[in-house]
Amino acid sequence: MKDRYGRVIDYVRISLTDRCNLRCIYCMPEEGIELLKHEDILRYEEILKLCSAFIKIGISTFKLTGGEPLVRKGVPEFIRELKALPGTREVTLTTNGVLLGKMANELVDSGIDRINVSLDTMDAEEFRRLTRFDKIDTVLDGIDKLIKLGYENLKINTVPIQPIKPEDIIKLADLARNKPISVRFIELMPIGEGTEYSGSSSELIMSILEDKYGLAKAYQGKLGNGPANYVKFDKFKGYIGFIEALNSKFCGSCNRIRLSSTGFLKLCLHYDYGVDISGFINKLSVDELAEKLAEIIYDKPKAHMLGHKTEHTENKRMNQIGG
Ligand code: GTP
Ligand code: 5AD
Ligand code: SF4
Repeated sequence: MKDRYGRVIDYVRISLTDRCNLRCIYCMPEEGIELLKHEDILRYEEILKLCSAFIKIGISTFKLTGGEPLVRKGVPEFIRELKALPGTREVTLTTNGVLLGKMANELVDSGIDRINVSLDTMDAEEFRRLTRFDKIDTVLDGIDKLIKLGYENLKINTVPIQPIKPEDIIKLADLARNKPISVRFIELMPIGEGTEYSGSSSELIMSILEDKYGLAKAYQGKLGNGPANYVKFDKFKGYIGFIEALNSKFCGSCNRIRLSSTGFLKLCLHYDYGVDISGFINKLSVDELAEKLAEIIYDKPKAHMLGHKTEHTENKRMNQIGG
């Protein structure tokens, strides 16, 4: 479907839970957060019914997020059911990687189309500072296990946080040099805890990489459904990507909306605009739901105003939004 600005909306990010098994400093406080109760989050049957309605209005690419989606029970089976809905185009997952090793076989069997793994550093000490957990080896082993199983539709998401060490950036990029996976550098967005930290511009990262590997070539092809721009370095197996929500605003071509784990349909990452649709799911038929969703999505805001506070600025944390 198209929104009032003529943008084609065909992708929904579905947050399965606000819970997480890490506590990244730019996302969640260490303690003292209130988590949702199980009875407040949508049941899988409810999400599937909503997805059938999304498909009816042309939204058939589903991204599963969290918190950490894999901490919710039954995710592989849910992926299988979502993939089996008539009309589903793709189901992808964004995870922090902690449970990948344990769940690799089930995930590959579920038919998940692509997996993005968040990994902000290759340094064990820095990983502990950023995530407050000593789990870098668990994450790296999980990635290796997927690759050993022959699963190659993998991307790494890196949010570089100051102080940035060029040698760490090189080590992260080396994952794309040595393995057939893409590494994306993401500008930190001033949302929730993110306002307390500084990220890095893509120019800085690019200059570190070009100093080491020579000039990169822009890649015009499509790798997934997101806002990343990709380049290729000579002799790299994978691509290097940049997601620049601030420096290179991509709102004009935004294709997405978000569904929170409680059933709030959120129209833009940055604003609190949206509608709680949880109460409609059991009352309406799939066709009626589709009509309702289309009405709400039509009013998606034109662009974010990250960095400027408005009366509708989102006050939730990233673990509640799903990135
Ligand atoms: P693929 O390219 O298909 O893998 O999807 P993706 O890049 O959209 O997914 P992913 O979940 O890996 O998101 C990567 C980063 O992009 C995260 O930091 C998100 O917060 C950010 N992001 C995703 N969608 C949006 C958006 O609509 N607006 C902004 N500002 N950032 C977004
Ligand atoms: N800015 C940019 N990316 C963020 N993420 C979490 N918080 C922020 C933020 N403030 C990233 C995570 C993960 C993805 C889902 O969102 O690191 O890769
Ligand atoms: Fe968890 Fe992702 Fe937030 Fe880190 S960024 S605390 S992994 S939800």
